[in-house]
Amino acid sequence: ATEIIFDCDTGVDDAMAIMYGAGNGARFVACTVTHGNVPVHVGARNTLTILDAVGLTDVPVHQGAARPMAQPLLTAEFVHGHDGLGDAGHAPSQRSLAGTLAAAEIVRLARSRPGELTLVAVGPLTNIGLALLLEPELPRLIRRVVVMGGAAGVPGNASETGEANIWHDPEAAQLVLDAPWDLVLVGLEITMSTAMPAEVVARLEAVETPHGRMLWQSMQHYIDVYEPLVGMRTCVLHDPLAMALALDPDLATYRLARAGVELRGERTRGQVVADLRGFEPDPTDPLEPGVVRLVDTLDVEAFHEKFLRAL
Ligand code: BDR
Ligand code: CA
Repeated sequence: ATEIIFDCDTGVDDAMAIMYGAGNGARFVACTVTHGNVPVHVGARNTLTILDAVGLTDVPVHQGAARPMAQPLLTAEFVHGHDGLGDAGHAPSQRSLAGTLAAAEIVRLARSRPGELTLVAVGPLTNIGLALLLEPELPRLIRRVVVMGGAAGVPGNASETGEANIWHDPEAAQLVLDAPWDLVLVGLEITMSTAMPAEVVARLEAVETPHGRMLWQSMQHYIDVYEPLVGMRTCVLHDPLAMALALDPDLATYRLARAGVELRGERTRGQVVADLRGFEPDPTDPLEPGVVRLVDTLDVEAFHEKFLRAL
């Protein structure tokens, strides 16, 4: 099983990613939570609620950064609902948060299991950036990183060019992209292709497991938001795709590219700028700092099947 530290801002699609992982063989070592879709304490509570719903009542949840490194906090309740889970009225988990703060726990786990853990990050990258500041050797201690973030060569969703997770903390994102680890950047250029066709939405609606019902109810507000964008009642599966590629890298093909975050642009702050002109890796160091894997092609049908199976 792939052993995962899941860094999230739960959030409707973060909830989908937890359910996807639970049903597809992920072993959650810990969840760490950041500000993002909702304030961090709300996201932390939501993470516990979703873990409990899939029976993962022993996975510890560590609260993390309450705001970005160098700009004010901004949240996205207009996308995820006031409670972050579509205001569907789910009873929040009564479980306690773990004592250690997120960044410290990421460092502690990585040191205790060098080279074994996969980091899946589907919120703003503040916790991971902080962990890199605490432990500069972190990239060597982590097996692989899969980040949902960026909009390489396509329009943003938080600004003209900015994707929400990067745009919510550009400085942290730059620290993460620039670290020398094996990093897959799963951006809007590929996640927007995961909008579920009507037939998949119908199968989702018919799911009868309690957690599947719960997700369907939470998704309705999110589907409302996507309807004008996609032209039908469906939604895209941003965060589940990052989880899917952490568990089954072969669902996609990849290409290497240099990428960084625009930190000073007057209209483009928070944009991921990837050099899409092609890239000749250094054979001695294909993953030199600043080089990431972008997703080239994706088996969307296989991904949707695995998503449905998990529910
Ligand atoms: C990302 O931003 C958040 O709203 C979602 O949870 C996802 O992680 C999509 O841009
Ligand atoms: Ca998210």
